[in-house]
Amino acid sequence: MQPDLPELKRRYLATFRFSRIPHRFSDVLILGGGVAGLSAALAAAASGATEVLLVSKDAPDESATRWAQGGVAAVLSPEQTEDSVEKHIQDSLEAAAGLADEEAVRITVTEGVERVRELIQLGAEFDRDGAGNLHFTREGGHSAPRILHRGDMTGKEVARTLLAAVRERSQIHALFDTFAVDLITEDGACRGALLSRPDGDLEAVWAKTTILATGGAGRLYRETTNPPVATGDGLGMALRAGAQLEDLEFIQFHPTTLYVAGAERFLITEAARGEGGVLRDSSGRAFMERFHPLKDLAPRDIVSRAILTVMREQGENKVWLDLSALSPHRIRARFPHVLEMCAGFGIDIVREPIPVRPSAHYTIGGVMTDIHARTSLEGLLAAGEVACTGLHGANRLGSNSLLEGLVFGHRAGRLAAERASSVPLPQLFSTFGKETETAGAAQTDSRLAGGVNLDDLSSSLKSILWYRVGGERNGRDLESALTQIRSWIPYCLGAQFSVPRSWTLQNMLQAAYLITLSALRREESRGVHYRSDFPHTDDERWKKHSTICRDDL
Ligand code: FUM
Repeated sequence: MQPDLPELKRRYLATFRFSRIPHRFSDVLILGGGVAGLSAALAAAASGATEVLLVSKDAPDESATRWAQGGVAAVLSPEQTEDSVEKHIQDSLEAAAGLADEEAVRITVTEGVERVRELIQLGAEFDRDGAGNLHFTREGGHSAPRILHRGDMTGKEVARTLLAAVRERSQIHALFDTFAVDLITEDGACRGALLSRPDGDLEAVWAKTTILATGGAGRLYRETTNPPVATGDGLGMALRAGAQLEDLEFIQFHPTTLYVAGAERFLITEAARGEGGVLRDSSGRAFMERFHPLKDLAPRDIVSRAILTVMREQGENKVWLDLSALSPHRIRARFPHVLEMCAGFGIDIVREPIPVRPSAHYTIGGVMTDIHARTSLEGLLAAGEVACTGLHGANRLGSNSLLEGLVFGHRAGRLAAERASSVPLPQLFSTFGKETETAGAAQTDSRLAGGVNLDDLSSSLKSILWYRVGGERNGRDLESALTQIRSWIPYCLGAQFSVPRSWTLQNMLQAAYLITLSALRREESRGVHYRSDFPHTDDERWKKHSTICRDDL
């Protein structure tokens, strides 16, 4: 029996008095500037909300959305591709390994078609063939080519289009480089959020509805395809505010990340295999046939584990992705971004294979929502990677997440606009004079906080997650990871910080704890969660979601 850690239950990361900080009011407050947040803002404005405030912790073009290479899965031209909405639904359900919410899947796939058409009307340009028809590519687990893409920089095009539209709507006001520290709650409902402005001052935003769209937690891992912003802030905020979190053990590992020692990890899109790329071991042998009849286009979790197996067998730290089946012209036209990034490390992908290995890619679990994007906390909606809508179940089909962000971002924005006309603004004066609880003694925010080296702690945390809570897990490693994470909690989560960098580490620690605990509790293998000590799927005991909230800790 492990002792209680009261620091895990702290309510706010910052200490403040409502009477001493500036206040702002909004119909709708959106935290996050990726596809879900931007879609929510547009839908809220289009549905009648007059005051929409969008807050992003980084610059306008920094989000996981912008980094997405592959594309958006949507059945836009069923005759052209011998595809159907029903097939897309079935593929998504199959990938989800028994844990998908069929209604969420149907909504995403069906409404997704409409959302993508709107995106094209807004000006998004996707690749087309010589006849001017949209070009659809294929990724693992999809039974037909249905992935729309813009070269290998689809996310950038989606983000560009949505951001341009947001900038044209006078109802939407955007604040960038502004860190959301915590959700404000009162009487069991979310009333807005506490922000840290670029000048470092705190500000309270009171909103009729708050939409959490802060993205995932890939940066908790040493090896990841995710941008620096993906630090699980939304999971920490939602936990502290009392919302239910769900299925956090399901972290998707992408099979192919560029592996060059010392270089930032960089995604090599699955579309490279969709277009004919082949994985080879260090002797040049193609190995996927050994692991799955779909070979290189097997589901991602299977390809990732196959790579780890081959690396282990050969004592290597990488395998090779060979694009020689594609013509040089095709490689240059289709994968310009990968070509350029690899060239930066002296790798000419037209002539030589790419060194790759798996890394953390997508946070499948998250803040539990229903099909209307409502969380368990009144006044709080969630959409995008931070949310767990039930679409992905235990495994996500590639290119379903931009689609999910479009669909559930839209749903959240529309609902928030409806609430704007029926819900009164929070009563500001009831909060005056209340000081938030603090946990632990005041600390400084220097790199050494109370003798703790924050950089060192951050990199140790990422290593622990990578080595012990990675693509292959077992009870012993998970226990030891949990013990290590627990040992850091009193002095890191118990400390009082006042800058985003330190709050981010506190969020990471809280999210790491939840992910590790959830992985330890699920004693089976399912979807992306593989336990070598429980290698089989156990429907009798585990065909169910895992949930966790502040009161359970
Ligand atoms: O491989 C990729 O381009 C990734 C796509 C996705 O995760 O949706």
